[in-house]
Amino acid sequence: RDVMVLNGPNLNRLGVRQPEIYGTATLADLARFCREWGDALGLTVRFEQTNHEGVMVDLLNEAADGALPVVLNAAAWTHYSYAIADACAQLVAPLVEVHLSDPSSRPEVWRHTSVVTPYASSVIAGRGFDGYRLALEHLAGA
Ligand code: DQA
Repeated sequence: RDVMVLNGPNLNRLGVRQPEIYGTATLADLARFCREWGDALGLTVRFEQTNHEGVMVDLLNEAADGALPVVLNAAAWTHYSYAIADACAQLVAPLVEVHLSDPSSRPEVWRHTSVVTPYASSVIAGRGFDGYRLALEHLAGA
């Protein structure tokens, strides 16, 4: 079974971006882990990252058309993008919202809102890379 693991803006900079929050491993490491975890669960992972909102909408539309489950770390878009929310609303297979950090316990108030959560069957936050493994396990069992 195919699944999409989609990552939003600035996650290309994992490993160098605020390592005290996001860790020192890179996006390439995360992609490799997700493919390995997926393989072990019988899932074929398509792993993508984009800094461009329209590209993310296109990827989510593709997931909707293909009835593919999605693991989504929408990064900052999580907190304000109604275009991403509308794209999530169209998904037909389960959506798992993932964050490396726990936005609800961070000081910026704008991180405390998620426009994605209403469309997610599960939200995993504050577990670092392991959150993606938990998300894939959730989808494998769904
Ligand atoms: C994030 C949390 C968001 O608040 C932030 O904008 C990100 C990453 C996370 O994975 O912890 O870019 O989604």
